[in-house]
Amino acid sequence: MRIQVAIIGAGPAGLLLGRLLEKAGIETIILERRSQDHVLGRIRAGVLEQGTVELLDKAGVAERLHAEGLIHDGVEFCFDGDRHRFNFRELIGRTVTVYGQTEVTRDLMHARDASGSKTIYEADNVTLHDFDGDTPRVRYVKGGVEHELTCDFIAGCDGYHGVSRASVPEEAIRTFERVYPFGWLGILADTPPVGEELIYAHHERGFALCSMRSPTRSRYYIQVPAGEKVDEWSDDRFWDELRRRVDAETAGTLITGPSIEKSIALLRSFVAEPLRFGRLFLAGDAAHIVPPTGAKGLNLAASDVGALAEALIEFYRERSTAGIDGYSSRVLARIWKAERFSWWMTSILHTFPDTDAFGRRIQRAEFDYLRTSPAAARSLAENYTGLPF
Ligand code: FAD
Ligand code: DHB
Repeated sequence: MRIQVAIIGAGPAGLLLGRLLEKAGIETIILERRSQDHVLGRIRAGVLEQGTVELLDKAGVAERLHAEGLIHDGVEFCFDGDRHRFNFRELIGRTVTVYGQTEVTRDLMHARDASGSKTIYEADNVTLHDFDGDTPRVRYVKGGVEHELTCDFIAGCDGYHGVSRASVPEEAIRTFERVYPFGWLGILADTPPVGEELIYAHHERGFALCSMRSPTRSRYYIQVPAGEKVDEWSDDRFWDELRRRVDAETAGTLITGPSIEKSIALLRSFVAEPLRFGRLFLAGDAAHIVPPTGAKGLNLAASDVGALAEALIEFYRERSTAGIDGYSSRVLARIWKAERFSWWMTSILHTFPDTDAFGRRIQRAEFDYLRTSPAAARSLAENYTGLPF
């Protein structure tokens, strides 16, 4: 079978790319290793930058997002019990929208199903071939039968553990990585959120985050050491620990309830360079990972595929390779700035095993500077709500 663009992975990056290309009349097939239900069952990010919302609008999949998403004008930081609100709308005239990654994925899947574009779920043993020439091929096994696609381009949107980046010869790629000695234990509960906006808390016992999915569904995270097991955390133990890490008012008003999901995600910074190898492109988590502190993972995936879609559309409409030639350097410039911001948010808000008294004073000084300097607060606002696409 022949197709214009073969997309590997039906996460937000692959689905959004497919949608943007389909709207421009470019044919795609998405190959996804897992089942549709499995993809929809993964609880991940929750905060959308304004640019991501605009891109989802452009893709024609933002109707429910506008009806159900919660627009937040700011966030709160809580440092050893002292709280401060950063009002992004006042600082720079921008906001963020709270709308779960699961919902973004669901909306994109519905639009794709309605348009008739093909997604092959439970595609096993996907392998990439000949992307250094003009006619790349992708092979996969579905229901025990081997299939082959011939295409013009392959988009590797298959996440950190995917096959796309792993298919690139070692000498053609360079990677940059930092692994943090802790993870986030997250809980989802059908309880009203403790605050109207997100609270990012620094405490000597570790970081905590109070987030939400809707006025009746909360999402909370606490920092745990790497290697911690979810089974060791009963709901009661989680709620007790969360209360210890936030200010007294938040702890006092927190409404707890049974968890409906509980999982641990390890924290990592990672970037691959370059992101184009002949006719193969990497986008989203296949290309980079950020620690979740700055809420950038899903948003970066969106900005990558926004740029990739523009480049491919330019190729098909104008027979120009300028966009695809510039893809890697264009997106890497934005990726590194989001890496810097996510690393910085992680370093000021978490407790590191080797943080000494000097390090703790520096973290406190960062908070005091942000709280008292409008210039520092504007820098936080500009990065959190998203740098220009
Ligand atoms: P993914 O969502 O990973 O999608 C890749 C898809 O490719 C998957 O569906 C996968 O099954 C498929 N795939 C993989 N290998 C193959 C293969 N060989 N063949 C075919 N298909 C394949 N970000 C935040 O901002 N906040 C958070 O709280 C947050 N929590 C997270 C928790 C976890 C456990 C993880 C893993 C990530 C989290 N992130 C978070 C990051 C955010 O969810 C990602 O940045 C975002 O999902 C990236 O989208 P993507 O489409 O690039 O990759
Ligand atoms: C959520 C996750 C984040 O990483 C973040 O910075 C803010 C919110 C969330 O899942 O709600």
